[in-house]
Amino acid sequence: YEIYLNGMAGVVPRLPTDLTRLEELTERRLGAGPVGYVAGSAGNGSTARANRAALERRRIVPRMLRDVHERDLSVAVLGRPLPAPLALAPVGVLSIMHPDAEPAAARAAAAQGVPFTLSSVSSTPMERIAEVMGEAERWFQLYWPKDPEVARSFLNRARAAGFSVLVVTLDTPLLAWRPRDLDQAYLPFLNGVGMANYFTDPAFKAGLSKPVEEDLTAAVRHFIGLQGDPGKTWPDLAFLRENWDGPVVLKGVLHPDDARLAAEAGMDGVVVSNHGGRQVAGSVAAADALPRVAEAVGDRLTVLFDSGVRTGDDIFKALALGARAVLVGRPYVYGLGLDGQSGVEHVIRCLLAELDLTLALSGHAVPGTVGPADLVEDPVLP
Ligand code: FNR
Repeated sequence: YEIYLNGMAGVVPRLPTDLTRLEELTERRLGAGPVGYVAGSAGNGSTARANRAALERRRIVPRMLRDVHERDLSVAVLGRPLPAPLALAPVGVLSIMHPDAEPAAARAAAAQGVPFTLSSVSSTPMERIAEVMGEAERWFQLYWPKDPEVARSFLNRARAAGFSVLVVTLDTPLLAWRPRDLDQAYLPFLNGVGMANYFTDPAFKAGLSKPVEEDLTAAVRHFIGLQGDPGKTWPDLAFLRENWDGPVVLKGVLHPDDARLAAEAGMDGVVVSNHGGRQVAGSVAAADALPRVAEAVGDRLTVLFDSGVRTGDDIFKALALGARAVLVGRPYVYGLGLDGQSGVEHVIRCLLAELDLTLALSGHAVPGTVGPADLVEDPVLP
């Protein structure tokens, strides 16, 4: 109704309310370089397409006459009350999209009451995010560095900066083959942008022979040397439990057996995710993996979901497939690129308004009543 009433005064939304249109618009305004980084996926993009197809293929079967007059989108996630089953996914190097970068996205999340997940490879140090977010809910994503001193230092800093949930990304021990980044030789990443957490870290700096300002190339090389560790195995998770006293969530789990291992390792949750199709080309679609993971561990772990969420009905479908809440990546990044903080707020508000309407029109007053019986698989769509 807000949009309708504004319309009566001749004011239409500054950005499209169909969020699937944001990518094209961002490319027109910012050019192919930055959008190549954001839209880019592994291989020829088949996993990213499969993510969308797996959500589109599932269709909601709405129920009528179920009193949805009063609705409440709030959910409890990892012991914290959230206003809605939505959080912003960790996305690195947001300065590529907008000079206000992570602080703008963090402020938008705080203004809308949605958790903001800060990437390890942000262009803004985590302490600055704490400053702009005040008491608002924030999560920290760890790319687990090879050097345990740097890892421990990151966890200590994140704790001190008020990040409540640790999200450990497992699917990126190596950066995948991403043609859109390779073709532009990672040009948007020049000059160590995205290494702010490392360049401000005492344990990282202890490994340098000269200060970052004096030898940027050596600092970048040191970062690359630390980044990712393909040698890690499940027993290594004990390190996380020893060094983080809040909830730990493993991001990038797709196999039900891995979800069981996460539960056995004492983790608190998993994010069923294929990194938005950016890691394994030809991987299972995240929405196809979700019900099997939820069935395996849904009673023991908090199951979150991302990869392909673009609309409110996508969120509804993820809930029906067993997720407690979803994370959204690219849409908010395009919102940031197009209109800074207010662009991110636009994206959050559109998703929540559309989710609210989808719930209501499908016969649900709260997210908790949504389940597998609300979906069918379309017999025709691939
Ligand atoms: C990501 N993602 C990501 N994940 C992570 O754990 N750490 C990171 O630094 C990043 N960086 C990143 C950059 C960009 C440009 C994108 C698009 C994605 C993955 C992200 O958290 C999430 O899993 C996906 O974005 C979800 O898919 P959608 O919503 O983009 O389809």
